[in-house]
Amino acid sequence: MKTIAVLTSGGDAPGMNAAVRAVVRTACVNGIRVLGVIRGYNGLINGDFVELDLRSVSDIIHRGGTKLYSARSAEFATEEGMQKAIQQCKENGIEGVVVIGGDGSFRGAQDLSERGIPCVGIPGTIDNDIACCDYTIGYDTCLNTIMECVDKVRDTTESHDRCTVVEVMGRRAGYLALNAGIAVGATSILIPEINFDIEKDVIERMKHTQLTGKKHFLIVVAEGVGVNVTDLAHDIQKETGVESRTCILGHIQRGGSPTVKDRVMATRMGHYAVKNLLMKGIGNRVVAAKNDNVVDYDIFEALNMKRHIDEYLYQIAMDVSI
Ligand code: F6P
Repeated sequence: MKTIAVLTSGGDAPGMNAAVRAVVRTACVNGIRVLGVIRGYNGLINGDFVELDLRSVSDIIHRGGTKLYSARSAEFATEEGMQKAIQQCKENGIEGVVVIGGDGSFRGAQDLSERGIPCVGIPGTIDNDIACCDYTIGYDTCLNTIMECVDKVRDTTESHDRCTVVEVMGRRAGYLALNAGIAVGATSILIPEINFDIEKDVIERMKHTQLTGKKHFLIVVAEGVGVNVTDLAHDIQKETGVESRTCILGHIQRGGSPTVKDRVMATRMGHYAVKNLLMKGIGNRVVAAKNDNVVDYDIFEALNMKRHIDEYLYQIAMDVSI
């Protein structure tokens, strides 16, 4: 391949810049020209490209967000939008595309591959919800951000003998809530993958620990469970007598400088996407982390895999946070 493009799509995630850097540097040292696509698939449709060379990706490895900007493109989901993107690829000599994003972005990559533009997906999302991957870029940084925020809220929660109900991100997945919940010692963790009953899994647990002398509580709720945390805090206060507050962490969870783990994994995946796949003319693949190795899967196969939460880990959390 002589020219490839790289884009970031969907919700940004810390470490996306490190992945872009690795893609660009690996391609450049192998004599491949790289075009950065601005604002995800919208940029591909509109021909919004920027030439990237070795030095253009200096000083971004430590930055959160994405230098290429990101978007969720409704137009790309239409056949007309897709055809415009293909036309842009042809006019600009783009022979392969690296797509850094979540499963929605991979569907676009699959569609493009099927229409003759080989694409490789790199999993970049804080949610860690890509079934073929043990781990997605941005997840580790996000977990650490949540932990730091909840550690702060814990100080005031403890000082006032209160309960704080913390809502964390995770559109359809509870990995962030489960692992952050363990890291902060939450009394209850509500996630979409495991059925729960507020009375039994929150109120009774709190009452039980009150009997052992516990006076302050943290409850971690994944946004994906659809529980209104203000109502939950109200119910907790009414039923347990513990004054309660809420803390919705929101988009602060998506920002910040990536951790070592995110930077290293992003670099490995970006390198793999170019060196092991696109340079060999291989497309329609998703790069994945499996048992600390970097591997790849057919996109269709990857999108149809089912990921299961570690129920034993959830049980450990419940056994210990009591
Ligand atoms: O997929 C990543 C994510 O941050 C989810 O956890 C969250 O539900 C969603 O994106 C929020 O999207 P937006 O930034 O468009 O509000």
